[in-house]
Amino acid sequence: MEHYGNFKEELKQKTDHAEKVIRLWLPKEEGFAKTMAEAMNYSMCAGGKRLRPVLLLETLRLFGGDEKLAEPFMAGIEMIHTHSLIHDDLPAIDNDDYRRGRLTTHKVYGEAMGVLGGAALLNYAYETMFRAFELAPGNERVIRAVRIMAEKTGIYGMLGGQSVDVENDGKPLTKELLDYIYEHKTAALLEASMMTGAVLGGAEKEELALVESAASNIGLAFQIRDDILDVTATSQELGKPVHSDEKNNKVTYVTLFGIEEAARQAEELSARAVAYLEKLNRKNEFLMALIKEMAGRRK
Ligand code: IPE
Ligand code: IPE
Ligand code: MG
Ligand code: MG
Ligand code: MG
Repeated sequence: MEHYGNFKEELKQKTDHAEKVIRLWLPKEEGFAKTMAEAMNYSMCAGGKRLRPVLLLETLRLFGGDEKLAEPFMAGIEMIHTHSLIHDDLPAIDNDDYRRGRLTTHKVYGEAMGVLGGAALLNYAYETMFRAFELAPGNERVIRAVRIMAEKTGIYGMLGGQSVDVENDGKPLTKELLDYIYEHKTAALLEASMMTGAVLGGAEKEELALVESAASNIGLAFQIRDDILDVTATSQELGKPVHSDEKNNKVTYVTLFGIEEAARQAEELSARAVAYLEKLNRKNEFLMALIKEMAGRRK
């Protein structure tokens, strides 16, 4: 980052903090359902960029508010995201064998445990987020945040996008339909991260709409970048297989527009996200730098 010298160190520090928070809220590996708890924790503890919890906390910081209250939500969004990855890798969906530098959950624990452990992680996310009420009983912001999280995850969010994605494997797609898929399968969880952070931080309605637009644009850019990395990076760099999209006969931004034009569009979307955030007239230099970084990331 040209204008922000400490970005890398700060990102590392904030990722480490997110890592600590996430681990505090994981299920205990004990009792008769121990194997399921192990399958849930296996992928949760495999690393990952932890971008969503970092975005959540940094967006809360943009508005102020109680950082403690963000913690069950930081863990919760990472559980929802990890559930989406465990299921995305299943033989019925993308059929991939590596994730976050390790064999995928179903490869280690079997398909049944991949399905059940993934579902349990999604549910545990809500068990965890509802515990924010122990920190702040009856808090209106917590209610609003859980509701946003639920809406952005389900049929009108990430899962809706995933379903249209798999339904269209091997079929020709318009840009319009592809944008629907990306806005839902990927951008919706980035919207959930930033919007719950904003709500917990006390954002007003108009401010929340600006945060949603910023996250939507950066989410689309993030998925376009994922498409590009699927053809330009190595599996070593990504910790997951490359050429997964080609294997599944997927139309992507790369197949529709080519790498260079896809990258240009990702940069344009990123600039739009920055413009929305600037309209807030609030300052969090790190958050801005992170948003700028996401469209050009290398892993
Ligand atoms: C991967 O998300 C799935 C997409 C939405 C492209 P990330 O690239 O954030 O994966 P992790 O969390 O770092 O493993
Ligand atoms: C997945 O998109 C988005 C999810 C909701 C998991 P991809 O299928 O391209 O994600 P990767 O490349 O497997 O991480
Ligand atoms: Mg997929
Ligand atoms: Mg996939
Ligand atoms: Mg991909």
